[in-house]
Amino acid sequence: MHIDVLTLFCEMFPSVLGASILGRALENKLLSVETHDIRAYAENKHHRVDDYAFGGGTGLVMMPQPIFSAIRDIDPEHKARRIYMSPQGKPLDDARVRALAKEEHIVILCGHYEGVDQRVIDELIDEEISIGDYVLTGGELPAMVLIDALARQVEGVLGNELGADEESFADGLLEYPQYTRPADFEGHKVPDVLLSGHHANILKWRRQQQLLKTYRVRPDLFSKVELSDKERKAFETLKNQ
Ligand SMILES: C[S@@+](CC[C@H](N)C(=O)[O-])C[C@H]1O[C@@H](n2cnc3c(N)ncnc32)[C@H](O)[C@@H]1O
Repeated sequence: MHIDVLTLFCEMFPSVLGASILGRALENKLLSVETHDIRAYAENKHHRVDDYAFGGGTGLVMMPQPIFSAIRDIDPEHKARRIYMSPQGKPLDDARVRALAKEEHIVILCGHYEGVDQRVIDELIDEEISIGDYVLTGGELPAMVLIDALARQVEGVLGNELGADEESFADGLLEYPQYTRPADFEGHKVPDVLLSGHHANILKWRRQQQLLKTYRVRPDLFSKVELSDKERKAFETLKNQ
């Protein structure tokens, strides 16, 4: 997968893209990311990229020309999936990440100020994606969130030890609690079952914890989970304990 990012702040990306699992994935060429400075495409004398909003208002809006030129240059035949990071987009979730991870080429547009001229969205963008119901100053952090989430779905990025299919959301539930050594930390003990070596009991306990946590924290997800009659009955008892 190749990802092109259009931004006014290329300098925000190297530290995030260079570290940890994402850094290794890029180094090993499991995916590639290129940032492009929108300002470099501005055709006016002072490389201006924003202007006042028609109709009034205090904020500045990103002008269409530099963005149109940048996207025409990077994706001339519109072969890429073009995404605008925006609080007005559909909220990003696991299903959307997995679907987008099948794309070969993605272009991500990062807005700033009051956002971008609507004609950019209407004429150039395939979808708007939000990373949550709050407003950030720019699309750079949302773009990095999306890139990180996509990278985890690319084969080979996580390695065998960290299967994405065992994480939260993969089976519609939040993940079970995790513990590591020591088994007793200042009197706080790891649940006995995890030290028992009894694989079936460990699986059962983990599933119960997933159900409990999802039920308590994310009733919206829990309502979509399909449980057998037996499991539903057992859960009714468990949640009342
Ligand atoms: C200050 S915001 C603009 C907000 C816009 N005026 C509005 O009210 O919907 C500037 C840029 O940050 C990015 N952004 C802010 N919040 C975001 C979110 N929750 N998800 C994705 N992108 C976001 C977008 O690229 C946006 O163009």
